[in-house]
This record gives sequence, structure tokens and C-alpha cells, in this order.
Amino acid sequence: MDPQQTYSPNTKTILGLQLPTDPRWVNLAEISLQDILTDHAYCEQKAAISCISLIQRYSDKERIVNELSPIVTEEWGHFRLVLEELQKRNLSLGKQRKDEYVNALLAFTKKGGSEEDRLLDQLLLMAMIEARSCERFKRLSEGLKDEYLRNFYRRFMESEAGHYTLFIELSETYVDKTKVRKRWKAWLQYEADVMKNMEVRGDRIH
Ligand SMILES: [Fe+2]
Ligand SMILES: [Fe+2]
Repeated sequence: MDPQQTYSPNTKTILGLQLPTDPRWVNLAEISLQDILTDHAYCEQKAAISCISLIQRYSDKERIVNELSPIVTEEWGHFRLVLEELQKRNLSLGKQRKDEYVNALLAFTKKGGSEEDRLLDQLLLMAMIEARSCERFKRLSEGLKDEYLRNFYRRFMESEAGHYTLFIELSETYVDKTKVRKRWKAWLQYEADVMKNMEVRGDRIH
């Protein structure tokens, strides 16, 4: 069976994403494996760094500190797993690229406003990146020809789905649920526009 036929249509219902990934992306990613692994490695590294920053910034918020501490370890573990895959293939890590996707999302975060608004956007930014990463890993886990790599990416998909949920839950711990939902809807819409305007490239996760 063509692996492409196994795509599940549930991306939208699970993650709320408004725009599914262009199906051509998996085929492009497949032929740029070194680039995709390198980019993936840096994504994991940045996820770990972002969690550390949140802990530093919101050290007075016990749940953020307690819940994100193990995520730092987990994301760093992900980085090491991807690094191992590169090394197994005699490939080197390579340079970090400019992250257009994350930079575009960063532009949507509130810089002014109340402390609560800023916290909410910090957490929803993380939820957004986890949700899209999860969807991308799902695409790879369903669309790649290599069975080993399909399984490799399935593990990441499951893990990032859990992180997405955690960031939404953390938002609801500190901010009124109705407000979280309203702002999350705005994030989903904004992210869909960002995705729509981005070139489909196989050398990057987003
Ligand atoms: Fe991760
Ligand atoms: Fe994650």
C-alpha cells in the first residue's frame, strides 16, 4: 500500500490545526534526510532551552517549574536521539538555520499588556510549536518509505502530543479557561496563515 494512503484525517480534530501540512512535504523531507535530521535536532534543542527559560522567568509559579523540569530532560533526550541517528549515518550535526516559522510565531506574542497576557502567549507559543511538530512527525511516521524511520518518528509524535496538551493545561492553570480558548483560536488562525505563506521545503521540520 502506498504509505501516503494511510494519512489520517484527524489532524484538525486532535490538534485544532487549521491547515494540514502540504502532502508534498514528506516526499521532500525523505530526500533531504540529513537536513531534516539536523533541523529536527536543533528543534529539540530549542525546545529544551525554551523550557529552561520559562522556568527561569516564572520561577514563582510552582506548576510551571515542576512540570517543565522533566520536559527539559525529555527534550534534551530527543536531541540526543536525533544526534545518534545522524552519527549512525556518518552525518554531522551541521549548522543551525534561521527559524522562519518560529520567528513568525514570535511576532504574534504580546510584548506589552498584562503579565497574564504575556504568560499566556509564552505558553500558547510553546503549545503551537508542539502541535505543529506533532503533526509533522505524524506525517513522517505515516508517509516515509523506511519502516525504521516511520517508527522513529512515531515516538516523537506521541511525545510532542503530550507536550502540546501540557502547555494548554498550564495555560488553564494560570489563566481563565474562556480567555485561553479565545486566544488559542486566534493562535490557530494566525499559524494557519503563517503556514500558508511559507515555502514547502523538505530541509526543515516547519
Ligand atoms: Fe521533543
Ligand atoms: Fe516537545
